[in-house]
Amino acid sequence: MTQQRIFVLNGPNLNLLGQRKPEVYGTSTLKDVELSLRQRAQEYGFALEFLQTNHEGVLVDQVQRARAEAAGIIINPAAYTHTSVALHDALEAVDIPVVEVHLSNIHRREQFRHHSFVSLQATAVFAGAGAYGYLLALDFLAHHLGEDTAS
Ligand code: DQA
Repeated sequence: MTQQRIFVLNGPNLNLLGQRKPEVYGTSTLKDVELSLRQRAQEYGFALEFLQTNHEGVLVDQVQRARAEAAGIIINPAAYTHTSVALHDALEAVDIPVVEVHLSNIHRREQFRHHSFVSLQATAVFAGAGAYGYLLALDFLAHHLGEDTAS
């Protein structure tokens, strides 16, 4: 049986995780997030594609790739959450589950972060749980896709 593939897409400035505003985003680096996700993915038998980009068009390209290749998407679109109609439209065209993740609770922050174009297309949203939110997203996908075999 071929492994189900999960795409984990990270938007602009998340390469600075651990250095940028640790009081808001925590001290884990993106590498830490990737490693803990890979471990959990292995328990579930998922293959993981993990990517960070500072470019909106690359996020759109990867969503389009996921459309053909993935069983689910975990996405932290970072600032593009609040601005990108292109990302909204790309996600609208996929029929696999999409889980939106934010390290911070965007609803407790500035007004401009309260609206998400991505949430309109998301199956589930985790915000404010820090790096743990990515693991929650993976657990959710495993449950949602009926692959909940981790003990
Ligand atoms: C973020 C929240 C966004 O508002 C912000 O632009 C980010 C990170 C988060 O993970 O909390 O870059 O997506």
